[in-house]
Amino acid sequence: MVFYRGVSLLSKLRSRAVQQTNLSNSVRWLQVQTSSGLDLRSELQELIPEQQDRLKKLKSEHGKVQLGNITVDMVLGGMRGMTGLLWETSLLDPDEGIRFRGLSIPECQKVLPAAKPGGEPLPEGLLWLLLTGKVPSKEQVDSLSQELRSRATVPDHVYKTIDALPVTAHPMTQFTTGVMALQVQSEFQKAYEKGIHKSKLWEPTYEDSMSLIAQVPLVAAYVYRRMYKNGNTIPKDDSLDYGANFAHMLGFSSSDMHELMKLYVTIHSDHEGGNVSAHTGHLVASALSDPYLSFAAALNGLAGPLHGLANQEVLLWIKSVVEECGENISKEQLNDYVWKTLKSGKVVPGFGHGVLRKTDPRYTCQREFALKHLPEDPLFQLVAKLYEVVPPILTELGKVKNPWPNVDAHSGVLLNYYGLTEARYYTVLFGVSRALGICSQLIWDRALGLPLERPKSVTMEWLENHCKKA
Ligand SMILES: CC(C)(COP(=O)(O)OP(=O)(O)OC[C@H]1O[C@@H](n2cnc3c(N)ncnc32)[C@H](O)[C@@H]1OP(=O)(O)O)[C@@H](O)C(=O)NCCC(=O)NCCS
Repeated sequence: MVFYRGVSLLSKLRSRAVQQTNLSNSVRWLQVQTSSGLDLRSELQELIPEQQDRLKKLKSEHGKVQLGNITVDMVLGGMRGMTGLLWETSLLDPDEGIRFRGLSIPECQKVLPAAKPGGEPLPEGLLWLLLTGKVPSKEQVDSLSQELRSRATVPDHVYKTIDALPVTAHPMTQFTTGVMALQVQSEFQKAYEKGIHKSKLWEPTYEDSMSLIAQVPLVAAYVYRRMYKNGNTIPKDDSLDYGANFAHMLGFSSSDMHELMKLYVTIHSDHEGGNVSAHTGHLVASALSDPYLSFAAALNGLAGPLHGLANQEVLLWIKSVVEECGENISKEQLNDYVWKTLKSGKVVPGFGHGVLRKTDPRYTCQREFALKHLPEDPLFQLVAKLYEVVPPILTELGKVKNPWPNVDAHSGVLLNYYGLTEARYYTVLFGVSRALGICSQLIWDRALGLPLERPKSVTMEWLENHCKKA
């Protein structure tokens, strides 16, 4: 334990030094990369030809440069470590975590406009950053908030479609059904049917994406109120920003919960392109399926327990610990409970990652939020204890590549503290946030004219023969 604390202190100091260098680099970068117009669509219109030329040059000058060797392990291991996708909006470093257009989470918290001084970033600001690579001014964010407000009307048939499902259906099933029902308004589909030139495809993709981002909080809130509040829905409040309005429609009025929602939507939005939901959205859209179809497919991937559903699993697991051992659980009891989970053939939810090899910075910023707003909360203290107990056990297993906590290890206890206690609903919140990241990339997919995704697959026999020859 002493060793573990020592290592974590050293790595904190090191990463603080790295962060400071990176931050000053980013700030230098930001001085150049700020935008002036208030209209996001015009901003994109200007950027697209530049980026198309950049891609063209990359292809023509460096198309034959190798990026690495593919091994049999990679083919059999879910394509781990295989670089195979272009994803502009964010990049994941195994040790440092996510950067949104070059900015880490602490940097985003520092430079993106907030609703109040020192507050969490407005998700609309992150959306602007993801789409343009530029840090928006407060006026640009306000203008984007206004654009989203003007699109935030959900046709009645969407609610009726959700109502056709049993109220007990999983919230993700109800949410995805709502997104599919929104699809009937797709501008992309209409434009394609009319016969649009492929160089213009990004435009209806933009229209659909912005409407989708504007409307998913209403659909998500409807599902929540239908399932847990007897269908008493709360109308949107146009005086609020995107995150605060979402929390308001769910039924939460505290300003701390509104801040949490802004942080939540910001940090869950994007995690480069290879994760199940992002990759699925990108893959489906590569067939020129419209943003609604693509995003609904992404949500179905997010609903898996090894991916987005892990936030539900974490809170249920934590509550089962409390039920069995009480809130003042000792580290020894916790140790035994973790082993019991592992011995029953289950994973410890909220720990491990396909790419990350250190503590997820999305976990860290939620921990900081908890330290500021709910340091005495017993479930938060349990999460903090898990941070000490779980990694050594997973390391002892000898096969887990990353024993550290991920984003899902923390989100549930924060939501639970503010009264959003229905764990089965948590993945829907994740889904609302993911709309920002996935849709931003879909707009660029079409703007850059990225092709149909079609990797080669082989059989075991093919691999055996290939290996014999090699
Ligand atoms: C996220 C996750 C799916 C990544 O999987 P991965 O890339 O295959 O991870 P690894 O390469 O480290 O897996 C190697 C082995 O360790 C196991 N392992 C990884 N994380 C584990 C965990 N938290 N608890 C128990 N076992 C775990 C894997 O199941 C695998 O076992 P197997 O060889 O018997 O199949 C995995 O860490 C996991 O299941 N975590 C818990 C669920 C979760 O929190 N998901 C949200 C991710 S953001």
